[in-house]
Amino acid sequence: MNIFFGEQGECFHCHGEFNFTDYSFKNNGLYLNYADSGRARITALPSDVGKFKVPSLRNIELTAPYMHDGSLATLTDVIEHYNSGGKAHPNKSGLIQPLNLSAQEKQDIINFLNALTDK
Ligand code: HEC
Repeated sequence: MNIFFGEQGECFHCHGEFNFTDYSFKNNGLYLNYADSGRARITALPSDVGKFKVPSLRNIELTAPYMHDGSLATLTDVIEHYNSGGKAHPNKSGLIQPLNLSAQEKQDIINFLNALTDK
């Protein structure tokens, strides 16, 4: 929880508030070239290419696969993506940077995400 809500993980800037989303549209560096241009399909703005609505993380353990195209199969894959800092797309948010997480810290974030499951 501390990594998620702190400046080490930076997750809360986008996945904050009651539903773990600020309802904004962001490019989280999934691709250099997006097959689906995302928000730009609506706005036609080049600056919106690769931006997708920040999804809620409630019950995230139960809703694999992840991202708009289901390209990441597991939460481990998601954490590896964020840990890498993502691809250098020009619209990528500055908040997506290499995290240098230890194996324990990666597992800690996954354990926190699993705690968002509504039993
Ligand atoms: C710059 C804003 C931003 C930051 C920071 C961010 N995310 Fe995300 N996150 C997104 C966006 C946008 C998506 C959806 C991308 C897509 O659909 O392709 C997403 C998707 C996800 C998903 C998949 C959700 C689903 O239903 O498919 C998970 C899990 C996730 N983020 C966890 C995290 C964690 C953990 C961190 C911190 C290490 C983090 N995010 C940091 C914007 C952000």
